[in-house]
Amino acid sequence: MSVNIGKLKLKNPVMVASGTFGYAEEFRDFIDLKKLGAIVTKTITLKPRQGNPAPRTCETPAGMLNSIGLENPGIDVFLKEKFPALAKIGVPVIVSIASEHDPDEFIQLVKRLDKVNNVAAIELNISCPNIKDLKDKSKVKTLISQDKDATYRLVKSVRRATKKVLITKLSPNVSSIVEIASAAQDAGSDAVALINTLTGMSIDIQKRAPKLSVVTGGLSGPAIRPVAVRMVWEAYNKIDIPIIGMGGIIDTASALEFFIAGASVISVGTANFINPSASVEIISGVQKYLRQNNIKDINGLIGGLEIET
Ligand SMILES: Cc1cc2nc3c(=O)[nH]c(=O)nc-3n(C[C@H](O)[C@H](O)[C@H](O)COP(=O)(O)O)c2cc1C
Repeated sequence: MSVNIGKLKLKNPVMVASGTFGYAEEFRDFIDLKKLGAIVTKTITLKPRQGNPAPRTCETPAGMLNSIGLENPGIDVFLKEKFPALAKIGVPVIVSIASEHDPDEFIQLVKRLDKVNNVAAIELNISCPNIKDLKDKSKVKTLISQDKDATYRLVKSVRRATKKVLITKLSPNVSSIVEIASAAQDAGSDAVALINTLTGMSIDIQKRAPKLSVVTGGLSGPAIRPVAVRMVWEAYNKIDIPIIGMGGIIDTASALEFFIAGASVISVGTANFINPSASVEIISGVQKYLRQNNIKDINGLIGGLEIET
């Protein structure tokens, strides 16, 4: 079951997605955290952030919308109060980082994390759709990962600042995921994670008002799975670095779709809110599938999609 992301070896290819697993302590009573392939933290920023005002989640058909807006205590409090317990779990900890608008903040964050021994990898969240202009909520901000040149520049400058394994998390809100994934690869990213949420909106028809305070939010859950699988497959056909696939994975069957499409690793997100054991159930489910199908190594399944010609 073991797979590699650059020089990082994971004992199995199942991890939990940023922002859906807190700092892991919330899940301690539900699952044996040691079983996970890796844990990705909620995205951390340089300064603490309160996030957007409530309501900032709502349910949708086969999924949910969220507009959390990167609420987090900031890197200082994270390293002092959250990281030590995470590091003790004994599985690789991948720290997700972001900046609202300043690429230089990414460098500062990376330099801080570079000095922390137990940080297994850094995930660059350049795809959060929930950083809003609260004065003009209809204003659409361009994300770094919506621009191939901006993606290249950011990853390149971060690459210079650390030798740690770098993962670049991409947005599905683009016309060509291949173009952006290639830019991340060319700039030295060790892997790409896809997908972050799809921008969406829901309306309360009685109030004739948006269900989320900031109007739009990120759609996640099974509703987005076909889009995510398609993007993993497209990227797999064009890039050589590993792909961490996510988007609507809730059980073994949905995880397997991603491996077959070309993901080396999968991440469980929204499903953690519905079934906190989903990730560990998927680990044993994938093992069972490999045994039943006489596949000796998960790497023999990755990208194994057969298309009749
Ligand atoms: C409530 C919530 C909070 C999230 N916060 C983050 C975050 O802080 N950083 C990030 O990179 N992705 C964040 N995401 C996106 C997930 O990591 C994941 O990319 C996305 O939800 C798709 O996977 P899923 O359908 O399995 O949830 C968040 C998603 C949800 C539902």
